[in-house]
Order: sequence, then C-alpha cells, then structure tokens
Amino acid sequence: MISNSVSLSELDTARFGVVSARAKLVTSDVIPEIDSFCAENSVRFLIARCSTSDIKTVHAMEANGYQLMDTLVYLRKDVEDYIPPAYPSELSIHALTPGDIPEVIKVAEESFSAYKGHYHADPRLDPVKATEVYSSWAERCCTDPTAANHVLVAKLDGELVGFRAIRINTSEQAEFILAGVASGMRRRGIYRAFVIEGLNWCKVVGVTHVLNSTLLINTTVQKVCTSLGFYAFESYHTFHKWFGKVVV
Ligand SMILES: CC(C)(COP(=O)(O)OP(=O)(O)OC[C@H]1O[C@@H](n2cnc3c(N)ncnc32)[C@H](O)[C@@H]1OP(=O)(O)O)[C@@H](O)C(=O)NCCC(=O)NCCS
Repeated sequence: MISNSVSLSELDTARFGVVSARAKLVTSDVIPEIDSFCAENSVRFLIARCSTSDIKTVHAMEANGYQLMDTLVYLRKDVEDYIPPAYPSELSIHALTPGDIPEVIKVAEESFSAYKGHYHADPRLDPVKATEVYSSWAERCCTDPTAANHVLVAKLDGELVGFRAIRINTSEQAEFILAGVASGMRRRGIYRAFVIEGLNWCKVVGVTHVLNSTLLINTTVQKVCTSLGFYAFESYHTFHKWFGKVVV
C-alpha cells in the first residue's frame, strides 16, 4: 500500500533498530489509512505530527494510542527590508569549512544530550541514540545539500563554539534547521549572532522570508528570535505511537 499520509523512515529504522514510519500532517480522516499502512509494513514505531489548531484530530489521536511527545512552534521573519543589527565583535561567525565538521558534530552531541524534543521525551527510546539523531543530522547538514544549503560556525579564540544550519526550501523561503552552542559558551549572544548572520545570508540569496521552528518550551530561541523581528504563526504537536510488543 502506498500512502500520501505516512511513509517508512529509513533513518529512524536504522537508528533505533525497529521498523519506523513518519506521518507529516495527520488529520482525523487518515488515521485508519495510517494504521493499515503500519500493519502492512510491520511498523513498530510511528512519529506523527498534527496541527495544534486541529483539536478534533488531537482527540482522535489520543483515542487511538498516540502519545504526545513535544510541541513545535514555527516562527517567521520577512527579510526584504532586513537590516542586520550589530553583535559583539569578539564573536567570529563565518561559513563552515570542511575541517570544522568534527567539531560541529562534537558541539551537536553536547548541545542535544539533554534536549527535550520528542525522541528524548519517549521513555521507550535510548537517550544516547536520541542524541545521535541530532549529531548525525548536524553532520548531514555539513555534507549533504539536501539537508542544508549553508552552515555557519562561531569561533571564540579559534575554538568552534557553535553552529547554525540553513536550508533553502523554495525560491521565496529559507528555513533555520538546526543550531547548537557549546554549554560553557551560552548566554553570550552567540545564538543571536547566528540569527543575525543567518538572516543576512538568506536576504543575500534572495528569499523573501525565513522560518525557524523550535520547541514550545525553548523560550531562549523564541525570545532571541522575536527580539529580531520573528513572529509565531503556527504550531504542531508531535505524537509517537508504538505498535505490537515493544522491545527497544
Ligand atoms: C538555544 C541555544 C542555541 C541558545 O544559545 P546561546 O548562544 O546561549 O543564545 P544567546 O546567548 O544568543 O541567548 C541566550 C540568552 O542569553 C542572553 N544573553 C545574550 N547575551 C548575553 C550577555 N552578554 N550577557 C547575559 N545574557 C546574555 C539572551 O538574552 C538570552 O536570554 P534568555 O535565556 O533569557 O532568553 C543553546 O542554549 C543551545 O545550544 N541549546 C541546546 C540546543 C538547542 O536548543 N538548539 C536550538 C533549537 S534547534
């Protein structure tokens, strides 16, 4: 069965060792189709998103064994009139070079080890493997143009202390994908500098607006972004559903 609502996830299957699938935007009417797809493909682990505004679907998912794991808020910034503000001059923000990649992976591993996203929130998933989702995603952002088109890195006294990946979605739209700052280097404005330089890069490549999604509970990202002119415009719940006997 081929479904427009759900597809197998090779990355999650390889990472967690159970057949995994993803449903990008669930609505209550497609829940039976998702169940059939998962049964036919022996799916054990399903990641499924739905709009927070669709309460009918939220209730249908709850009634069908889906468990809430996190909530994402999408922020948007229009960049046509963007003028980059200043940030502390001791911060050096520049484009990734191939030699930076091992340090980006290291910063990602450290930044996301205590993350509160849906993988870490699920007690059935190994938290070490949950962290590896983000470090391997950071590596792909540096090496695979389908994951990200541009990566910025921050250096302080020659040491790599953070990264910010950006993807062009369409000729009009770019998206901030993944970012992390080494824990000992936080609260110095490094993330803010990434947003400032990231928006500048997006404006130069010619998109009209930039999206940034973050956990609803990630108030740091939201505060920094709204202070630079982003506004919240939509949000999504992430649910997990486990099928059959659970052995992870
Ligand atoms: C979220 C994250 C990237 C923020 O990085 P950061 O470099 O610490 O962010 P900033 O320094 O720009 O801003 C953080 C806070 O420090 C404050 N700050 C900035 N410069 C400061 C300074 N010189 N002195 C004191 N505070 C300062 C900011 O106002 C902000 O305050 P808030 O926490 O009350 O909102 C970092 O905490 C992280 O890597 N977290 C884990 C991974 C993650 O959440 N990634 C983002 C989602 S993909």
